[in-house]
Amino acid sequence: MKVDLLIHNCGQLLTLASAGPKIGPALRDVGLVPHGAIAIREGRIVLVGSEAEVRQQASAQVEIDAQGRVVMPGFVDPHNHLVFAGDRVEEFEQRLGGASYQEIAARGGGILSSVRATRAASFQDLVAQSRARLDRMLAQGTTTAEAKTGYGLSLPDELRLLQAIVELGRSHPIDLVPTFLGAHAIPPEYVAQAEEYVDLVVEEMLPAVRDRRRELNATPFCDVFCDEGAFNAAQARRILSAAQRLGLGIKIHAEEFARTGGARVAAELGATSADHLIQTDSGDWAALAAVGVMAVLLPGTPFGLGLSKYAPAREMIAAGVSIALGTDLNPGTCYCESMPTIIALASRTMRLAPAEAISAATLNAAHAIGRAHEVGSLEVGKRADVLVLDSDDYRDLAYRFGGNLVARVIKDGREVASNSVVLAAKVRPGAH
Ligand code: NIG
Ligand code: FE
Repeated sequence: MKVDLLIHNCGQLLTLASAGPKIGPALRDVGLVPHGAIAIREGRIVLVGSEAEVRQQASAQVEIDAQGRVVMPGFVDPHNHLVFAGDRVEEFEQRLGGASYQEIAARGGGILSSVRATRAASFQDLVAQSRARLDRMLAQGTTTAEAKTGYGLSLPDELRLLQAIVELGRSHPIDLVPTFLGAHAIPPEYVAQAEEYVDLVVEEMLPAVRDRRRELNATPFCDVFCDEGAFNAAQARRILSAAQRLGLGIKIHAEEFARTGGARVAAELGATSADHLIQTDSGDWAALAAVGVMAVLLPGTPFGLGLSKYAPAREMIAAGVSIALGTDLNPGTCYCESMPTIIALASRTMRLAPAEAISAATLNAAHAIGRAHEVGSLEVGKRADVLVLDSDDYRDLAYRFGGNLVARVIKDGREVASNSVVLAAKVRPGAH
């Protein structure tokens, strides 16, 4: 058959092929094909396997020679707070001097300081700052990313952030999956009136968010920051059940700082994912595993805060919980855009084998945002989102850190970044 593009001479082709999310020992199987090749037509994978097999069936107009290096699916970042204005480097320095994240938040800094900066920024500026982050994500191999709102905290401000996500999704090669996080913090207008703010989220914000699904080209997820100093488990349950009734997918920030019951709410409601999960116990793991809630682990966050406790990933894997990795990119706890950095951290701080971390950052991450039918592995029919690494051993992704091993990024069958330089704008406008 005639194809548009053949990527050949792949020394280690990692397909990550799998019928469902990877759980337990399957996490260690990256579907390695030595001397592999991929044939691509109209932005999708039509053949994948050994070079001999693929060449027998396909002739291509254009070929990319991978020069014996690692070829793998693009990273999927399933948890990030992409859209914000400004930064909080002052708070970072205060924390180095001994102040805690919670102390800074209690005196009006923290999330609320980013809310002030984000509300004050022009739409154009907000989009431009977020687009620069997307460029750095793409250069490090992220080809699909979730994007949360949550620095608006009023109906018009939250809708403006959703509109920024629409604009970025249309114009940037990275495919975005929108998440509404109106319940990220209690806004200044509702101090000591948390229940009234929850009413606003449930009665006004959620229906308006649902009505934006056409512009967003996707049904958004709804997320809640359930923790001490944020929303409690009962409030999270109320918001997420209302979101479910409107047909939205649901996620939750659970047990990041304190164990307040968010993981059980996720299990009870059958959330797509529960994220952070640092302060969890064996009962929580069993509940998540029983329902198949994806555990999105974010080791960049304790690292970013200089804390020493990480999610108990090994225990979770042993308990049959399916795990994914994300950046948690945000201006407060973790200003990190790089999935390879997260893989390097995950292997050291949570004892993930390189193969486990790669499975969690690709296929399982795609499951965590409901996109595994499209991306996350190199399988026939999926989008041709492919990385060529500057390495012939995939374990280098965990072993070597601080540089950028992602040499070439192919999105929907077209090269969009090369040696850390972004080359192309959106491949197929509006495509999802
Ligand atoms: O995932 N925990 C809530 N949200 C972020 C922090 C956001 C911020 O500090 O701006 C997190 O850590
Ligand atoms: Fe987060």
